[in-house]
Amino acid sequence: MKRILVTGAGGQIGSWLVPALRDAHGEEKVIATDVRYLGPELSEGGPFQVLDATDAKGVGQAVMRHRADTVFHLAAILSAIGEKDPRLAWHVNMSSLQAVLEVAREQGCAVFTPSSIGVFGPLTPKDPTPQDTLMRPRTMYGITKVAGELLCDYYHDRYGVDTRGVRYPGLVSYGAPPGGGTTDWAVEIYHKAVEHGRYRCFLGPDTQLDMMYMPDAVRAAMAIMEADADRLVHRNAFNVTAMQLTPERLAAEIRVHLPAFEIEYEIDPVRQGIADSWPDRIDDSAARAEWDWAPAFDAAAMTADMLSHLKT
Ligand SMILES: NC(=O)c1ccc[n+]([C@@H]2O[C@H](COP(=O)([O-])OP(=O)(O)OC[C@H]3O[C@@H](n4cnc5c(N)ncnc54)[C@H](O)[C@@H]3O)[C@@H](O)[C@H]2O)c1
Repeated sequence: MKRILVTGAGGQIGSWLVPALRDAHGEEKVIATDVRYLGPELSEGGPFQVLDATDAKGVGQAVMRHRADTVFHLAAILSAIGEKDPRLAWHVNMSSLQAVLEVAREQGCAVFTPSSIGVFGPLTPKDPTPQDTLMRPRTMYGITKVAGELLCDYYHDRYGVDTRGVRYPGLVSYGAPPGGGTTDWAVEIYHKAVEHGRYRCFLGPDTQLDMMYMPDAVRAAMAIMEADADRLVHRNAFNVTAMQLTPERLAAEIRVHLPAFEIEYEIDPVRQGIADSWPDRIDDSAARAEWDWAPAFDAAAMTADMLSHLKT
């Protein structure tokens, strides 16, 4: 990784990953791109270009102009928005990935593509969910993520493109808001706890999902792209997790710092249905064995850090 292009750079992950990549590789080496103009931190802290990642020609020109050797492809439509507009999710998620992979094939780039626990469906073993298992998702988001994993493997096997990816769980961060996923509650809960002392959750109290704090998610993306290729048995995509949370459990963690915090429930059947089809706990032993993955934050450390940042 010497010169890097990031698509969808203004989202929840990109707004953390771009500064981390710029710190590690130099400001000028990392070009942030997104379909929309981003705030000054991302668009003025280094090279920035408005770029629709579904535009294969535009992606090709941007990679060539920047002389990028690595693409972090983050542009996508997430699970809850994807259920509102499935055709848009299919179009953006598949067309952009195909555009990036073709450009990578032509110009010899490595590609990081985040997959998701959304690849799993109601027939998948839920606890633990193995690395290699049945994947029959029922959401358009999940369908695009399974197809994306297969397409990335295909470009590696057929054309030798260095494609790598992780299946992220729900990601928790401050800064850029989450982009319309089923695990957004685990971000909103902190904001509402600090602002109002109470939160109305759209998932039921005992709905357990894998989660990760954003600094760990950023480390995972950078670590897998730097991993020794000879050690990789898998590529697209590795299960990674840091903790398993339910709304009740996270509320209890928040009460350690804000004892008066209250949580109530108003279940959204669409997002509850999606969450119920996802794993309770994924097994990330392949990532640990093949590229030494290990998270740094558990629920207590994440909660202390989130609340201290949001309070200030
Ligand atoms: N955040 C999570 O909890 C999570 C979990 C698992 C996987 N992921 C995956 O990680 C990736 C990034 O997720 P995120 O949370 O940052 O998403 P996000 O919704 O916060 O950000 C996506 C970004 O992509 C941009 N975008 C949308 N359409 C585009 C297009 N056609 N061309 C260029 N840019 C476009 C948006 O403007 C936005 O800035 C996605 O592939 C997502 O599926 C995220």
